[in-house]
Amino acid sequence: MKLIAISGSLRAASFNTRLVDLLVESAPQGVECEKATLKGIPLYDGDVEEEHGIPQAVESLRARIKGADGMIIATPEYNAGMPGVLKNALDWLTRPGSEMKPTFGHRPTALVGATPGQFGTAFAQAGSLINLRQLGCQLFPDYLRVSRADQVLPDSGAVDADLRKQAASFMENFVRFIG
Ligand code: FNR
Repeated sequence: MKLIAISGSLRAASFNTRLVDLLVESAPQGVECEKATLKGIPLYDGDVEEEHGIPQAVESLRARIKGADGMIIATPEYNAGMPGVLKNALDWLTRPGSEMKPTFGHRPTALVGATPGQFGTAFAQAGSLINLRQLGCQLFPDYLRVSRADQVLPDSGAVDADLRKQAASFMENFVRFIG
């Protein structure tokens, strides 16, 4: 089985990218989970699409998503929602409209997120469900909401042991969900 885990943050020291790294490391034996970022995806502009088509960075991410049995999206929380960078990438990935279903339709999808705040991106994750449902993803119902990320996914030093266990069991359950 092959999974793709996408970080919704472009920041080099992103907690969400660290969470993706942790999930990649936590994949059960026999499951390959590859990390993806949104680097190089421009802002959606219908004129650009019309003149130049779909950007290469979008096409290559799409190919990786299509090649995966399941997708994990790590969303930061900005003002209680999914950051524009992530929404923008999802929007590009639904273009042209005929690509929405093959990219997202019925694809097992897990939502996770990390924040230094106390609610673990609960608001961003709840809001994102509307978008992911619209895309036709098959949503994994479990939560992984990482709060106090500056402490449990620190700049230097070890990942919190409880979070490690949580990540391993989240991955195991997601793999079981995919079947
Ligand atoms: C934030 N942050 C934030 N955190 C949170 O828990 N709830 C929120 O509503 C917000 N809002 C918010 C808005 C904007 C514009 C920024 C830049 C930040 C803090 C955010 O969780 C923090 O910057 C994380 O470090 C972002 O994730 P990455 O980049 O570390 O993955």
